[in-house]
Amino acid sequence: MCGFQIAIDGPAGAGKSTIAKKIAAKLNYIYIDTGAMYRALTYTILEKKISIENVDAIINLAENCVIEFRNKDIIINNKKVTEEIRIQQVNEKVSYIAQIAEVRKILVNTQKKIALNNNIVMDGRDIGTIVLPKANLKFFLTASVKERAKRRYNEMKTKNNSIDFNKVLEEIRKRDKIDENRKCSPLARADDAVTIDTTGLNIAEVVDSILITVKDALKDSSV
Ligand code: DC
Repeated sequence: MCGFQIAIDGPAGAGKSTIAKKIAAKLNYIYIDTGAMYRALTYTILEKKISIENVDAIINLAENCVIEFRNKDIIINNKKVTEEIRIQQVNEKVSYIAQIAEVRKILVNTQKKIALNNNIVMDGRDIGTIVLPKANLKFFLTASVKERAKRRYNEMKTKNNSIDFNKVLEEIRKRDKIDENRKCSPLARADDAVTIDTTGLNIAEVVDSILITVKDALKDSSV
């Protein structure tokens, strides 16, 4: 394996994407948000009005779609869906789609290919355990459920004023439950991951602490 791989996992709202993006920018590495891939597929399922019960049609779509990252955008079948994948309907359905073993197999394969021979920061739920089990460094970011809901609420409030905090909290709890209990690669901490509880920490503090570990590891590696 060549390239330096950094895996960042954790539950919804733990700050993974924001932090992973900043780490990748500082190191000039590729950044891959694997949650965005599950979201892009979910958005297309909704757009095509496929029922989430229709697992065969969903698998067929997953097998036949091309998901790419171009600059800061996510593209599915040549359509840019960067903003669309954050809508409420996608938030509500994405965990169900991410539970389907065949869908995971297809997306995990794509993720492994993207990471091959690249310097990369990849975030998700199963990166350190399934996608990149041999990653050079693995981090598991957590935060209390209230703190994670507060972050999501603040983020969503800038776009929608009528959002209700308790609804966001409930949604995060529901997603945690599905992500942690699904049969196929549930959200889990890899044994060799460094855990960072981000409750009460700001983004810069977490980024700095990860960068110190990365720079130490880079000194010892041949990259
Ligand atoms: O990180 P996020 O909220 O954008 O993730 C969206 C959903 O996709 C979430 O319910 C968990 C799922 N997911 C997953 O199962 N595996 C990944 N590697 C990334 C996300």
